[in-house]
Amino acid sequence: MARLPKLIPFLSSTISKLAFLLSLAILLSLPLGFYSEDGTFSRHCLENPPVVNSSYGAGSVQNIGGHKAYVSGHLHSKLAIILVSDVYGYEAPHLRKIADKVAESGFYAVVPDFFFGDPFVANTSRTVQEWLKTHGTDEGSKNATRIIAALKGNGILAVGAAGFCWGGNVVVKVSKTYNIKAAVLLHPSWVTLDDIEAVKVPLSILAAELDKGTPANLLKQFEEALSKNKVDNFIKIFPNVKHGWTVRYNDTDPVAVKAAEESHQDMLHWLTKYLKKT
Ligand SMILES: *[C@@H]1O[C@H](CO)[C@@H](O)[C@H](O)[C@H]1NC(C)=O
Ligand SMILES: *[C@@H]1O[C@H](CO)[C@@H](O)[C@H](O)[C@H]1NC(C)=O
Ligand SMILES: *[C@@H]1O[C@H](CO)[C@@H](O)[C@H](O)[C@H]1NC(C)=O
Ligand SMILES: *[C@@H]1O[C@H](CO)[C@@H](O)[C@H](O)[C@H]1NC(C)=O
Repeated sequence: MARLPKLIPFLSSTISKLAFLLSLAILLSLPLGFYSEDGTFSRHCLENPPVVNSSYGAGSVQNIGGHKAYVSGHLHSKLAIILVSDVYGYEAPHLRKIADKVAESGFYAVVPDFFFGDPFVANTSRTVQEWLKTHGTDEGSKNATRIIAALKGNGILAVGAAGFCWGGNVVVKVSKTYNIKAAVLLHPSWVTLDDIEAVKVPLSILAAELDKGTPANLLKQFEEALSKNKVDNFIKIFPNVKHGWTVRYNDTDPVAVKAAEESHQDMLHWLTKYLKKT
């Protein structure tokens, strides 16, 4: 008992040190590249918004599983790739262009309208945090599951999924099931180690070097977790690019176009490997 008075200042200084370290850790884990459904949202996630165009692309808009979807390619290929959009939705020309590229490789490419005609629109009074309240990724992944079931009902034998920003979070959730054969995140958005530990299907993560939300050390942990669980994986960090580079690239900047196209090739390569062997 006599030692207690000495212990109290020791404890309180330890507690304040811990509190300091904890707040430092929290500060460091919330850099600009990070966003979450309730808190901060990366400026990189919203940069370079597309000029949406409902008539863009070589495909057409159809109804799949209660959602409108831009589709490109032939149903009789029996192999579908579902591309899950970022917050700007399924009318973004770049995304449809990627779908057309996927179709040219012999797949039925499907870009669903997850937002029922209500994508996020930059520079309006509605903030993305408000928008996310009615467009959460948990619901998005349930809806994706319904769309995948509808595709299988239409004669599709195998489905692969690729997710962009918002869609990356949806796709990691779908990857925790065997509803798809393989998945690609271009790039992860508020994906956690817990998410990755639950992934069951081959997963490729194409990440941006300048994406502070998913830094290299976190990607390393992702890779270790996937390998430990014997889940095939391919993780690549694209140098000198920002979160969003795969779909919201600057058309007139050849370096940006080249980096985006390389990511599309990597995505196709990964999905082809697992879909075409079924
Ligand atoms: C519009 O929004 C984008 C993305 O948030 C931002 O980069 C840009 O500065 C905004 N433009 C104007 C005129 O507010
Ligand atoms: C939308 O896409 C169509 C088809 O590619 C094109 O003809 C039209 O000019 C585009 N509209 C805008 C506003 O870019
Ligand atoms: C999912 O689908 C339901 C309708 O079936 C819709 O109300 C909801 O907004 C959708 N959510 C997302 C995030 O796509
Ligand atoms: C797009 O790239 C071109 C060429 O590098 C550059 O001049 C232009 O400012 C860029 N646009 C944006 C919005 O960054």
